[in-house]
Amino acid sequence: MEKHLNVVQKKGTIFTVSSSPSVVYGERIIRDSGRFLREWKPERSKLSALYHKNNWAFPFRESSRVLYLGAASGTTVSHISDIVSSGMVYAVESSYDPFIKLLRLAEQRGNIIPILEDARMVEKYGFMVENPDIIYQDISQRDQVSIFNNAVSAWKSIHHGFLVLKIRSISFSTDEEKVVRESISALKGMKVVSVTDLQPFHSGTRIIYMERTLA
Ligand SMILES: C[S@@+](CC[C@H](N)C(=O)[O-])C[C@H]1O[C@@H](n2cnc3c(N)ncnc32)[C@H](O)[C@@H]1O
Repeated sequence: MEKHLNVVQKKGTIFTVSSSPSVVYGERIIRDSGRFLREWKPERSKLSALYHKNNWAFPFRESSRVLYLGAASGTTVSHISDIVSSGMVYAVESSYDPFIKLLRLAEQRGNIIPILEDARMVEKYGFMVENPDIIYQDISQRDQVSIFNNAVSAWKSIHHGFLVLKIRSISFSTDEEKVVRESISALKGMKVVSVTDLQPFHSGTRIIYMERTLA
């Protein structure tokens, strides 16, 4: 497996290198050559599942600025925060209860801006988000593709995108592959690089990885 900054593999287990020994959601932390390594399980984080299945789709740099829509209490946000150690994660979440935990996480780390807002309402939170270069969205809503398109069109600085497609949130009865095809054809401003089925870690879920088109 190719090595990426702040991601470490040991005997088939993936870890992110953390600046802090604090446990975020019950994950295992080990000490390794003076570093703290936080286990990043594919069952707990869809981005980790993608990393296990399709490791090359990895545009993150230490200085990346990530717009994260659907942050919940910060499980995956915390690992991205490890990876982009000198960058920033703008973490948008609309539900109050998970947001409280997200807020605590942001207090412990210097590179997470927590935003309590509906991700659809770019005009309400856009002023807090400065030149993101990567967008990651994990929102189980019927209009998830449209939420993603709106954000991509609002920030021209975005050049890579991950859309977690929760198929049954879009349609309960339509054939899965048909929903995936229709969702891909509805995407705007981005070229699809890969579509990964997250089985066996997450069912009914694809991650669509994209790059900005030049036009
Ligand atoms: C599957 S969870 C995200 C899990 C998280 N991405 C992780 O890996 O740690 C989806 C989250 O999206 C949030 N959500 C749903 N609709 C939203 C919206 N319109 N704007 C922002 N967040 C939303 C939900 O409250 C929920 O916390």
